[in-house]
Amino acid sequence: MTLHHRAAARAASPGRGDQQPAAVPFLDIPRELDELREELQAAMERVLAGGHFILGPEVAAFEREVAEALGVRHAIGVNSGTDALVIALRALGIEAGDEVITSPFTFISTAEAISLVGATPVFADVKRDTYDLDPKAVREVVSPRTRAILPVHLFGQTADMPALRSVAEESGLAVLEDAAQAIGASLGGAPAGALGDAAAFSFYPTKNLGACGDGGLVTTDDDRIAERVRQLHGHGAAGRDTYVDVGYNSRLDELQAALLRVKLPHLERWNERRRRLAARYDRELADLPGLVVPAVRPGACHVYHQYTVRICGGRRDAVREALASQGIASMVYYARPLHQRPVYATEQRLPVAERIADEVLSLPVTHTLRDEEQERVIAGLRSALRE
Ligand SMILES: Cc1ncc(COP(=O)(O)O)c(C=O)c1O
Repeated sequence: MTLHHRAAARAASPGRGDQQPAAVPFLDIPRELDELREELQAAMERVLAGGHFILGPEVAAFEREVAEALGVRHAIGVNSGTDALVIALRALGIEAGDEVITSPFTFISTAEAISLVGATPVFADVKRDTYDLDPKAVREVVSPRTRAILPVHLFGQTADMPALRSVAEESGLAVLEDAAQAIGASLGGAPAGALGDAAAFSFYPTKNLGACGDGGLVTTDDDRIAERVRQLHGHGAAGRDTYVDVGYNSRLDELQAALLRVKLPHLERWNERRRRLAARYDRELADLPGLVVPAVRPGACHVYHQYTVRICGGRRDAVREALASQGIASMVYYARPLHQRPVYATEQRLPVAERIADEVLSLPVTHTLRDEEQERVIAGLRSALRE
């Protein structure tokens, strides 16, 4: 998904020497890194000097620090958010023949992970205001083969976990949170990552806490699940040379852990900046005709990995083009729900997911976005929607 970011930022950049104001990028990773450049370089030097690159002190320290920051008992670094999902599903005992209920309105990894463990993703429709898994729709697709629910904390807001947990409890299902987009989010004061049996996080560079490469994490409060994740991510070894299962080579490496340790202490402040930008968008866009600002679930602390509005009346693509013509980048997450992608194509109809795929538009909201850049986005939307 995020590979498109750079193209979008570039597409929005006017050429050198022309008179247009500077582009408003969708995100600007060099700007984020500049703030911490010296510390990041010192962290890299520390790892290079130590010569310990895999499962060393940086990963151990990062796992401790992130577990403490998230308020969970266990945090285990892995190679990516996708691997975190795969390994957590395996640790929960999901296997071939099982069904796992998930959202069709998410990044491909969510469903892909289910398929990779040999299980079948079963899609349930989403809610139009918060874009996430609708617990009522989930209940309707529970079958004798269902083993787990995999809700996505989409765009930085926790899914409706109390309702989803109660569906899970009724049918004896496990709950795995896809928290890839929601580090630092919470619901009723409980953090994403501690709202299910286990959770998967991603440190893909564009995430609210991004590595300088791939990285992921599994969290859980359950000692047995944690032990199983530790086995699986290191080739299925229960101890030195004791291979008890077919596992993976899936480790967060020392360099990424060291870099993430520099960024972690800033996460709360960065998420707060995203919330302030979102509050301003809410205020300034709420009265625009045909635009619906994102809903926040009561009790949720949203971390706005994306600030995603709906543009109704079939005008989304025209509005996006009008913004682009002013040098303002925006993105569409997700242009089609997963049950309409070739890999998962079915005859199934999920009307809400299908409809919002035509309406959603994500606006720039990273913590590095400047006030004057946000003003241009708001003015651009005002002129596009009032035309
Ligand atoms: C909702 C969701 N799930 C899973 C992933 C997979 O994470 P990764 O790219 O680290 O494998 C991502 C991120 O890209 C995501 O946005």
